[in-house]
Amino acid sequence: MKYREKTGFGKCPPEPENDLFQYDILCVGACVQDILIEGIEPSDFCNPVTVLDRVIFTSGGDATNEAVILSRLGNRTALVAKVDRGTAGDAIYLDLQREGVDTSQIVRDGNSRSTTSFVMINSQGNHNFFLSKGENEGIALEEIDLLALRHARAISIGSMYTSYKLDKGGTVELMKIAKRAGLITFADVDHDVEKLGPDAMNQVYPYIDYLLPSIDEASYITGEKDEKRAAEKILSLGAKTVVIKLGDKGCYVKNREEEFYVAPFLVEAKDTTGCGDNFVAGFIHCVLKGRSLQESARFACAAGAINSLEIGGHMAVKSERQIEEFLKTAAVCEISRG
Ligand SMILES: Nc1ncnc2c1ncn2[C@@H]1O[C@H](COP(=O)(O)OP(=O)(O)OP(=O)(O)O)[C@@H](O)[C@H]1O
Ligand SMILES: [Mg+2]
Repeated sequence: MKYREKTGFGKCPPEPENDLFQYDILCVGACVQDILIEGIEPSDFCNPVTVLDRVIFTSGGDATNEAVILSRLGNRTALVAKVDRGTAGDAIYLDLQREGVDTSQIVRDGNSRSTTSFVMINSQGNHNFFLSKGENEGIALEEIDLLALRHARAISIGSMYTSYKLDKGGTVELMKIAKRAGLITFADVDHDVEKLGPDAMNQVYPYIDYLLPSIDEASYITGEKDEKRAAEKILSLGAKTVVIKLGDKGCYVKNREEEFYVAPFLVEAKDTTGCGDNFVAGFIHCVLKGRSLQESARFACAAGAINSLEIGGHMAVKSERQIEEFLKTAAVCEISRG
């Protein structure tokens, strides 16, 4: 069945350049509805009516932010996630289709409710989150069309430790199958909200080509505060390359051949929500283009830095050209590493 017939509405993802691969990348993980409300002060809650500066309805969640950015950078991207059959699910679906993300791998489940988060932003740029927590969210291994892996060059797990239904064994199986099918594998990490323990993902690392945790997550997994020692431990657990995100201090990269830092770009950060997801998308984009590890990490830092210039998880990064221009002109912040 043709894509447009199958989904009923929206924009088709770009046609594959050859018959071999339908997708450059499959992004697996969280998909939620974000409503960003700008220009609201705590005192406004007592007013009967408040006129707002701007309200933005957008999709969000780690895998979703990654998928949107990868699509904007020109990759044929499918999101592998679950959304509800209500208005949140409809809005998410439409938003993704407008972004050119392939939605054919999204499961729409009448028995689930997607999370909606209301982000109230005041005139100083400070946020308050109001969360309507979803139910029966997250995709399980048995809901994923494993045949899609045959038609993809790469797969990315939006975040281990927050893919509740995949975290207890599903991710290992998925990544095992992905490696057997010859895909390049990427994974980000999040905080261990479910208290699965630092060793919970140990079986997954041997199937990961690029693991991209933040320094807090790398420390949690390894018990090492220092990024060099943490990366060394993660390599010994089986990941082939480790890229540790260091927030406003750039990133640190290590594999068996190379080891280096990338200095951060000097930006006036407005909102760092989703910087990690934009970083990962930028990195994946470059790896898929065959760029060097150094170039990929630098491009990723630029994507993360640009994202911080706007509110929301995928509002600022628009195109590869925009990032290339930023790389030519942006100032770098030299960091003394102890
Ligand atoms: N304030 C900043 N200034 C410059 N670059 C930044 C800043 N914040 C983030 N970045 C860039 O974005 C990358 C990813 O951000 P960060 O380290 O916060 O990821 P993260 O902790 O995974 O974030 P999240 O999970 O909240 O999206 C950093 O490695 C850095 O290159
Ligand atoms: Mg992160």
